[in-house]
Amino acid sequence: MSENEPLGIIGVGWVGLVSAVCFAELGHPIKAVDIDAEKVALLREGSTPIHEPRLDELLERNRDRILFTTEISEALEAARLLFCCVDTPPTYSGDADLSRVREVVANLRGDGEHALVMKSTVPVGTGASIVRGLAGLPYVSCPEFLKEGSAIDDFMNPDRVVIGAATDDAWAADAVAAAYAPLGAALVRTDVASAEMVKLASNAFLATKISFINEIANVSEEVGADVAEVARGMGLDERIGAAFLRPGIGFGGSCFPKDISALKLLAGNSGYHFQLLNAVIEVNELQKRRVIGKLTKHLGSLAGKRVALLGLAFKPDTDDMREASSLVLAARLEGEGASVSGYDPVAAATAAELLPGVELADTVEAALEGADAAVLVTEWPEFAHLDWALLGAKMANPLLVDGRNFLDPDVLRAAGFAYEGIGRPAAALGDAEPIGTADRGT
Ligand code: UDX
Repeated sequence: MSENEPLGIIGVGWVGLVSAVCFAELGHPIKAVDIDAEKVALLREGSTPIHEPRLDELLERNRDRILFTTEISEALEAARLLFCCVDTPPTYSGDADLSRVREVVANLRGDGEHALVMKSTVPVGTGASIVRGLAGLPYVSCPEFLKEGSAIDDFMNPDRVVIGAATDDAWAADAVAAAYAPLGAALVRTDVASAEMVKLASNAFLATKISFINEIANVSEEVGADVAEVARGMGLDERIGAAFLRPGIGFGGSCFPKDISALKLLAGNSGYHFQLLNAVIEVNELQKRRVIGKLTKHLGSLAGKRVALLGLAFKPDTDDMREASSLVLAARLEGEGASVSGYDPVAAATAAELLPGVELADTVEAALEGADAAVLVTEWPEFAHLDWALLGAKMANPLLVDGRNFLDPDVLRAAGFAYEGIGRPAAALGDAEPIGTADRGT
């Protein structure tokens, strides 16, 4: 088998595009297929439709190795491994919508020559059902664990590569393992259903960790503990680990909310009530709304008040706003009668579509102009280096709710702000110094 085996990538969203450029970087000729002709045209010109660090660079360097096309037949002609990377958004019921996966399968024949490698996140049992519907189709489950914002690095340095296949399809599993071999990651070879479950269980566990630390943060606020110190102390226990213990105003994105809902329903449909996941979901919803309480503590009724949202993407280094906390927050604030302004360094175009009621500003300064409060929603690095005394002076009232515990409370307080974090000792009412009289302490 050639080291540079040609690979077909079906669907060039986040997972597909990152996989395409990374496998090309590893030397594989790639046929990358998408039904969206506009997206294909854009990629052919060398432009990327999403914001992801290093993606442009890798695409540029590997343009000769990647053919973008709308024709799946081109991938079928060139490659025996077809990586299915189409999206599986939640349906109205919260189940995963597999219609795009089915469209891909409809183009395949069970000729035994082409294997379908499932990268899309699908419910456990999907592989078995696809193979039942198309006998003779070699099938490999190879879930993707990359994070938006660090997707290229995650692809190139995976903690593990999980490959699930039936014994009869060992040749396809071997070929997938060979494609990932240069990355030197731990390999988990298993059956299809277990591989599918690894993905859902991993995301559910990480989401549980976040909701857990968010609840610890909420209790810490009541009892005078600092959750950052608590997380530091907990994280040093190797059985717990320090990652994903950052409290905030809830998790969002295209994966966690949809995957935990899909796992909850998968369990429910098979007769098991996944109690813990219900709590994880509920805590996350309430966490987004707790900001309102922090604002009313200082401002009273929010009717007629102006609130600025700093950061609108679901996390930094992405323009993705799927399930972003900013969406819930903006709607809640508008519901309370507040007017909302917002700023995001890269998600402005997406925000214009999704947040029609929010006045989008080109700068932090413009977003804060005349505001009664600011909420830091996304921890964009550029927010760490702002002149808060200057910004506070633009506001009608210098109040900041730091939804990601990203800023130094002492710096903010010295700049004249009333500062509220998540699970940090709370600001007493009226603790803001008048702007101009405080030592900024930077
Ligand atoms: C996640 C998984 O990490 C990844 O393995 C999977 O393939 C897709 O889903 P992603 O959604 O890109 O990746 O982002 P991630 O960095 O995991 O963050 C998800 C959400 O959790 C964000 O809203 C983030 O702000 C939040 N988060 C993360 C916390 O609130 N606290 C933390 O400690 C970590």
